[in-house]
Amino acid sequence: MQEKIIILDFGSQTTQLIGRRVRELNMYCEIVPYNKFPHNDPSVIGVILSGSPFSVYDEKAFKVDLSEIRGKYPLLGICYGAQFMAYSNGGNVEPAGTREYGRAHLTKFDDANPLLKNIRENSQVWMSHGDTITAIPDNFKIIASTEKVAIAAYHAEGENLWGVQFHPEVFHSVDGTQILKNFVVDICGGKQDWDAASFIETTVAQLKEQVGNDRVILGLSGGVDSSVAAVLLHRAIGKNLTCIFVDHGLLRKNEFTNVMKDYECLGLNVIGVDASEKFFSELAGVSDPEKKRKIIGKGFIDVFDIEAHKITDAKWLAQGTIYPDCIESLSITGTVIKSHHNVGGLPEKMKLKLCEPLRLLFKDEVRAVGRELGMPEHLITRHPFPGPGLAVRILGDITREKVTILQDADDIFIQGLRDWKLYDKVWQAGVILLPVQSVGVMGDERTYERAVALRAVTSTDAMTADWAHLPYDFLAKVSNDIINKVKGVNRVCYDISSKPPATIEWE
Ligand code: XMP
Repeated sequence: MQEKIIILDFGSQTTQLIGRRVRELNMYCEIVPYNKFPHNDPSVIGVILSGSPFSVYDEKAFKVDLSEIRGKYPLLGICYGAQFMAYSNGGNVEPAGTREYGRAHLTKFDDANPLLKNIRENSQVWMSHGDTITAIPDNFKIIASTEKVAIAAYHAEGENLWGVQFHPEVFHSVDGTQILKNFVVDICGGKQDWDAASFIETTVAQLKEQVGNDRVILGLSGGVDSSVAAVLLHRAIGKNLTCIFVDHGLLRKNEFTNVMKDYECLGLNVIGVDASEKFFSELAGVSDPEKKRKIIGKGFIDVFDIEAHKITDAKWLAQGTIYPDCIESLSITGTVIKSHHNVGGLPEKMKLKLCEPLRLLFKDEVRAVGRELGMPEHLITRHPFPGPGLAVRILGDITREKVTILQDADDIFIQGLRDWKLYDKVWQAGVILLPVQSVGVMGDERTYERAVALRAVTSTDAMTADWAHLPYDFLAKVSNDIINKVKGVNRVCYDISSKPPATIEWE
């Protein structure tokens, strides 16, 4: 049985980060809404209570009865989690004079306490709280303080219950991972047996059991998630997996052919569908970004549906859904929102059952699984690419001619990033074709041609992004190459906007 840590989510922005840190310790964990503890799951070995946007005094604050959890499992409360356990046991929580945000240091602490084993004197921790714990229940003991906060961490004596006011899960808490390790390994007794190889072994066995001899179809996009899902399923059920890869004509230069070759080398059974004619005719004359997206989304489902119907004995639809897509997130009103992804109602229409073998993995774990499965590095480290493809990078209407210009310019930029060993340093990059013409001079001739913008960003999750500070020499070389080699372009700009307030894509 795969032992697990449960993270009770009280709505903090860093809850997923707690999950990732625990997984990095090779411990399996699941994030569940604060009020959905899996009471009947025998594999739970410990519980972490997350932070929250609320104060314990807020009317709408998420409250939970811990009576059936406390005493049965070790508990660690983080920020609100710590405040909630102190407050609900007779302690006191008060608004801090000023909201404390940023670095602090553990000035006084009890290094004999198991939670603080191997933590260094003055260790930097990250604070982010509006309330502070000012009194703890009688049997609770302070085990760490900071310059400003007397009760930075506590332990309920004689019990497996701890609270920390700071956030051990964030990068700036330098010994944060050690604290989490002390909790999940030493206190909860976690065996640290969760890694890519063990995931593959158990998942392949489960898939064999779940799917048996049924036929499964899977939509490939060329991206990491769907590719890893396909290879994993292929390992489990071999020829009973049929993949469909739709080319809407808006992929990168030669991408369809190259990715098809990769898939064939991996032994996958892939049906490649060139549907570019349909997409170009439906997109003709359409400039509105949302309309373009809708046409492509619907067109994609239509084509996939037709192809999928040809596989008459299919029983399952597999998808590369990953954990961040599945975590039931809490809205501020306390309602649980579950984003459920499926291909446009296709499973219901075709009476297909859904199979999502990566639904428990974070992105970095998907990559680790891909590597363990022996997939080529360029498939695994590929930058994210939007589903509507180059359509959202051509401002205005779309024609084959514009797509070709953009593909050529984009190819020079991306290849340049690879040659200069910059590709893996940026999160995502591409070229945008602007609806602008400008005057230039080439040889003795005056030109009046198109302008393109280069976009490259650094990011960890695409929620926020900074423009990549690429070397000037590199930008100069790419600009020169694009203007000299791509007919129809005589000006290159570099986009230096961050997100927010800009977005990564221009449309
Ligand atoms: P923005 O432009 O919102 O993009 O900063 C964030 C991330 O999402 C990708 N993106 C899309 N992906 N369909 C997709 O599948 C879309 O319509 C779409 N729009 C943006 C974008 O490339 C970036 O990684």
